[in-house]
Amino acid sequence: QLEAKIAPSMLSSDFANLASEAHRMISFGADRLHMDIMVRLTFFCSLNIKLCLTVSLNTPAGVAYLDCHLMVTNPLDYVDQLGKAGASGFTFHVEVSKGENPVEMVLVMTVEPGFGWQKFMPEMMNKVCTLREKYPTLDIEVDGGLGPSTIDMAAAAGANCIVAGSSVFGLRRVNFLTSVNKARVTG
Ligand code: DX5
Ligand code: ZN
Repeated sequence: QLEAKIAPSMLSSDFANLASEAHRMISFGADRLHMDIMVRLTFFCSLNIKLCLTVSLNTPAGVAYLDCHLMVTNPLDYVDQLGKAGASGFTFHVEVSKGENPVEMVLVMTVEPGFGWQKFMPEMMNKVCTLREKYPTLDIEVDGGLGPSTIDMAAAAGANCIVAGSSVFGLRRVNFLTSVNKARVTG
């Protein structure tokens, strides 16, 4: 029996309160925290490294699994720094692979990489099915557009690690924005 893992994507969290957002997710029962590392978002990249540090320093060992998604050209350049900061696992894109032979988990992107809030691509489920048939016990992670209306499709195809950004953090942010706008209107 494969273990289901839910990984909130910190890319959609409130950046001003990253550490408390991380702890909030863990307290809600998140199995891992998904960190998107993108060089073109240097600011976010360094925040994420800092977050790795904060979370790994402040939670009992084993509680916060930091799932680092390296959307960079040379992923190996980041492994040491992130590892020291508390990263637990790394995924990188096959397009930049230099023949590494990773086995523990495969990430299947279900949106174009780079942004949250995109629409789930159901056609990627073919990849998940093929992988699951070939590797019955492998952790297969899906990332992008996952929420209440798509998670069943991903699970049925064989994914057991679910990354979710906007569907986890979105509602609160929308509520927040609504209340700010209301306050503006009413002065
Ligand atoms: C997209 C990132 C995702 C993103 C997912 O390139 O890899 O981790 O944060 O966000 P949602 O769940 O909103 O699609
Ligand atoms: Zn990601």
